[in-house]
Amino acid sequence: MANVVVVGAQWGDEGKGKIVDWLSTAADVVVRFQGGHNAGHTLVIDGKVFKLALLPSGIVRPGKLSVIGNGVVLDPHHLLAEIDKLRQQGVEITPDNLKIAENVSLILALHRELDAHRESATDTGVKIGTTKRGIGPAYEDKVGRRAIRLTDLAEPDYLDEKIERLLSHHDPLRRGLGLEPLSHAAIRDELMSVADKVLPYMAVTFDLLDTARRDGKRILFEGAQGALLDVDHGTYPFVTSSNTVAGAAATGSGLGPKAIGYVLGIAKAYTTRVGGGPFPTELHDEIGQLIGDKGHEYGVNTGRRRRCGWFDAVLVRQTVKTSGIDGIALTKLDILDGFDEIKICVGYKLDGKDIAYLPAGQAAQARVEPVYETFPGWEGATGGARSWADLPAQAIKYVRYIEELIGAPVALLSTSPERDDTILVQNPFQD
Ligand code: IMO
Ligand code: MG
Repeated sequence: MANVVVVGAQWGDEGKGKIVDWLSTAADVVVRFQGGHNAGHTLVIDGKVFKLALLPSGIVRPGKLSVIGNGVVLDPHHLLAEIDKLRQQGVEITPDNLKIAENVSLILALHRELDAHRESATDTGVKIGTTKRGIGPAYEDKVGRRAIRLTDLAEPDYLDEKIERLLSHHDPLRRGLGLEPLSHAAIRDELMSVADKVLPYMAVTFDLLDTARRDGKRILFEGAQGALLDVDHGTYPFVTSSNTVAGAAATGSGLGPKAIGYVLGIAKAYTTRVGGGPFPTELHDEIGQLIGDKGHEYGVNTGRRRRCGWFDAVLVRQTVKTSGIDGIALTKLDILDGFDEIKICVGYKLDGKDIAYLPAGQAAQARVEPVYETFPGWEGATGGARSWADLPAQAIKYVRYIEELIGAPVALLSTSPERDDTILVQNPFQD
């Protein structure tokens, strides 16, 4: 019985929420291990829609323990707002079913402001197209060893020193950017105003997870974003500020790598991305438009329209390697229903040469040209299919071809947002 890590195999928005929810019924514990409320996970349960950005998807299921691990950056104000919103939808959230790591780093208003300022600046650097949630600046302060962490709220006597350390970095930075100076007292107030509400959820999560593991409980690690947004392995600098690959589940939860049994990558049957950065198979024509319309490709969080393109097997093959993916959950195949022909990117050309991977350099990434194979579409619908027998033969061929190209089997096939519209090939928990 293996613990399972779910990671995005593209640029995020692969439909991780549904798959995590589907798997969570078999799990005892669901853990978020990286990212913050830049994630947008939609769950549809009995027709009821839940939108989560920060809380582990297990929270909507009674009897599951949800854990926010140390690798996450936590905006305490957003946390409380999300808890409130879910409570209004009838979800029970208490310190018994939600635990947050003591050593989680906090996102403050100053991080959001800096993120937004950089994104609006026209003269400096590259525009990443971030979610403006303060994710990048918060991780910078964590790595810069000046972050305020959840546990610091429990020690108000030592907080002033920490705020000073933070300001000794941010004051000169803000002066240089022409931003208003920050008030020490305002930051203290910002933190202390939430302390009593957030601290009850604080726990020694590494230990609690270790105990769960030793007791034979099933742990589901819920990744956010996707491997191509990984700060090391993604399309740098157009990435998020955390490691999104499966290996991050170990460091971001405080469990060693052996706690991870099965790595399930989630991939859409086509490709999307939000924000800036290279996207070799992007379609700027009416087909791209159609995929976006049929697939409702708008951000859960920011409402931005997603860029759309054909399935890029080169990229997913690469993320199968960087995340050690054992099997793929292929989502949104139904969006390709009714197309006369479907293209799959099987390789790239870079300056006239064939290459089989996405090079690391920013200029080279922008220059690669996709090499396509054209595949006949299928008649009939895959939407709502619950077994292979329900699928058109040509659609099965498309799936089989993807498996061959990416070097990993399709373990699950999702054919609509509804949880029961899922074809199971191999149960990751019973690997
Ligand atoms: P889920 O979990 C898609 C993208 C942003 C931007 C880049 C950096 O729903 O798959 P950030 O705010 O993280 O500093 O922005 O990363 N991005 C996502 N794209 N899905 C997500 O999460 C994303 N989270 C961040 O659009 O390009
Ligand atoms: Mg998203």
